[in-house]
Amino acid sequence: MSASSVAKFGVITVSDRASAGVYTDRGGPAIEAYLSEVVTTNFQMESRVIPDEMETIRDTIIELADIHQCCLIVTTGGTGPAERDVTPEATEMACQKMMPGFGEQMRAVSLQHVPTAILSRQTAGIRNGSLVINLPGNPKAIAECLDAVFPAIPYCIDLIEGPFVETNETRFKVFRPKQK
Ligand code: MTE
Repeated sequence: MSASSVAKFGVITVSDRASAGVYTDRGGPAIEAYLSEVVTTNFQMESRVIPDEMETIRDTIIELADIHQCCLIVTTGGTGPAERDVTPEATEMACQKMMPGFGEQMRAVSLQHVPTAILSRQTAGIRNGSLVINLPGNPKAIAECLDAVFPAIPYCIDLIEGPFVETNETRFKVFRPKQK
């Protein structure tokens, strides 16, 4: 993708109840609001609300990565220990390589907010030109987790040959190692 192309971000809410209309999805809109606040590069959003079904989650990640070419795909929900929580497994199925540092860092920072942060099995991985990151379902977790890893996200997208993503530096400074 050329630097002038509009970046695309995917947002996937994984929730049986939100997808069935039992309650309104708050996680997806919270991620969209976060990205709109933090990212200054022009971007488009592709959002989905789906049930906690492994194949559906996997296929939705693949659709957003391969068809919509989202350089960043953020999921929310389904990372815990309950029987229906399968987002990390589906992420692993969709990705060619895992990026465990994202989950480690998000859990470490989340533990400063809530002792149950260790219950999230959230992870991240790469599918072709897409970085896929899992967040817990609690909308409060979204900024807590994304703040913990966002400084490394634009450089990760550079390395997988995505668009040059810039951020609002009053929010935080992106880290890009000096190029040789
Ligand atoms: N991380 C942050 N930052 N904030 C939270 O409120 N909730 C925890 C954990 N991680 C939480 C968090 C809880 S209570 C659970 S059960 C797990 O995320 C898994 O949540 P999920 O199944 O909705 O993904």
